[in-house]
Amino acid sequence: MNRIVATLLGVFLTLAVLAALALVYLRTSGLTARAEPGPLEASLARAARSFAVPPDLLDVSNPEPRTPEVLAEALGHYADHCAVCHGNDGSGKTPVGQGTWPKAPDMRFAATQGLSDGELFHIIEQGVRFTAMPGWSTGTPEGAAASWHLVHFIRHLPNLTQDELERMGTLTPRSPDEIRQEIEAEQFLQGGDPSPVHVH
Ligand code: HEC
Repeated sequence: MNRIVATLLGVFLTLAVLAALALVYLRTSGLTARAEPGPLEASLARAARSFAVPPDLLDVSNPEPRTPEVLAEALGHYADHCAVCHGNDGSGKTPVGQGTWPKAPDMRFAATQGLSDGELFHIIEQGVRFTAMPGWSTGTPEGAAASWHLVHFIRHLPNLTQDELERMGTLTPRSPDEIRQEIEAEQFLQGGDPSPVHVH
């Protein structure tokens, strides 16, 4: 009987300590997305993420051909869907990419480039739970092919040319404000009427 009471007391005290620690964590961290995960947490999270990739996918290499057309299509797709967080150059240095927890990584670096094709594909299709990385799968063969094309494009990020970056700049979604400013600047440069432009 005494042992049962002692065990229950032990469990209760452990729970109370954990609850107190959780409250201290909430207060001190403020649950802010601005902080950076520590190196231990980051490497544990990456290991868990790799472990969650289905083993038969982990070693698959890209089944889609890497042609100039495929890269051009993926460039447009990336500029439209991914650049808001990852940046056209893949650096992750965008207001959204730097404001999430964890932050969008610089995908030109070894940590990303060292992931297998299958793991990159899985991340793009399924997203990463507890992070801002969305899953993009559509469940269609065309959708899967588009994700494999993006894998080719991610491999190409470290070698982007100035031309490609400029092309992406024209494809990245812009707010009505930005479009208006561009039109006004264009009119000004052409010596045209500098009157305000309305964009809805
Ligand atoms: C809303 C922001 C957001 C968008 C949009 C987004 N991502 Fe991400 N992505 C993230 C974040 C944050 C991470 C880091 C996740 C982590 O730490 O596990 C990430 C991680 C990744 C990774 C893994 C890189 C690594 O080394 O951990 C790949 C690959 C990736 N994204 C590709 C894409 C592609 C391709 C698209 C567009 C189809 C895209 N992302 C759109 C936020 C975003």
